[in-house]
Amino acid sequence: MLFKQQAWLRQKLLVLGSLAVGSLLYLVARVGSLDRLQPICPIEGRLGGGRSQAEFPLRALQFKRGLLHEFRKGNASKEQVRLHDLVQQLPKAIIIGVRKGGTRALLEMLNLHPAVVKASQEIHFFDNDENYGKGIEWYRKKMPFSYPQQITIEKSPAYFITEEVPERIYKMNSSIKLLIIVREPTTRAISDYTQVLEGKERKNKTYYKFEKLAIDPNTCEVNTKYKAVRTSIYTKHLERWLKYFPIEQFHVVDGDRLITEPLPELQLVEKFLNLPPRISQYNLYFNATRGFYCLRFNIIFNKCLAGSKGRIHPEVDPSVITKLRKFFHPFNQKFYQITGRTLNWP
Ligand code: A3P
Repeated sequence: MLFKQQAWLRQKLLVLGSLAVGSLLYLVARVGSLDRLQPICPIEGRLGGGRSQAEFPLRALQFKRGLLHEFRKGNASKEQVRLHDLVQQLPKAIIIGVRKGGTRALLEMLNLHPAVVKASQEIHFFDNDENYGKGIEWYRKKMPFSYPQQITIEKSPAYFITEEVPERIYKMNSSIKLLIIVREPTTRAISDYTQVLEGKERKNKTYYKFEKLAIDPNTCEVNTKYKAVRTSIYTKHLERWLKYFPIEQFHVVDGDRLITEPLPELQLVEKFLNLPPRISQYNLYFNATRGFYCLRFNIIFNKCLAGSKGRIHPEVDPSVITKLRKFFHPFNQKFYQITGRTLNWP
């Protein structure tokens, strides 16, 4: 009898224990996503389509993301898309560059915002003549499905340095918002070199050392014909863009800070895009193994960027680094002056 009572008691305790653990897990999940459940922030009028702001709370957009995801995986029917008013919209903002500045990290991090939907692939519409020749409808069809009140963002870093692009983008939308993410120019050039080097190594090809490419052996001066160097002269490229767009339509993101302290950088972008602040520290966690911040969408889904982001750079002769930094210095000063954003580059 006593044995039976003890077994019954044990069973009861087990049930109560499971209930307690379940409740605790639920609470953790709720607290984890608390900032996503804050009182609803209406999207600013600028983002709005025909409907009133109140009809489209961000929370609803966040919730509906699940359907967008299913659609992208091919699991949602055309009927569902129609019923939910999903559309393919031209981008309201473009990350135009700079290559190796952190363009992928910026796009993925902005995509944490419930009112933002990213185009996953680099579309290369404006820099590639063949693509451009296919027309604007081709471009629109490359955009992800979104709700009319969301904004679509794409990134193609080649846009920043390609001659024809500013005029072409201007013709599509003269009031578009343009994001440029930059890193200290010498570091960016080495990162650029590292990417090309990796490609060559994969194909078993030999390649020159960075020093040999960046410094002209005849003059011992910086080799301005080397593309990785040219791309880092940010002000030269920006000046071409300014023939079409006023400086107010650009926002400079500090790519070095996005690595170490992403949240404040993202908050500045939210402001520039007139989005209510919704990306929080909860969405970004430092992953010591990767050595970078990774993304947390919710209690279940998180991700780090691919291994091709955050490569180990080769050692570069310090005298070459010094020479390059000296070379970039006046261009950097001009860039700060034009953009109104001073970055602490040497
Ligand atoms: P490195 O590979 O030189 O470290 P892009 O996406 O424009 O090609 O830029 C790649 C750079 O993004 C990487 O350069 C890396 O330093 C930077 N980056 C910024 N935030 C990152 C993050 N959270 N995870 C991985 N890489 C990040």
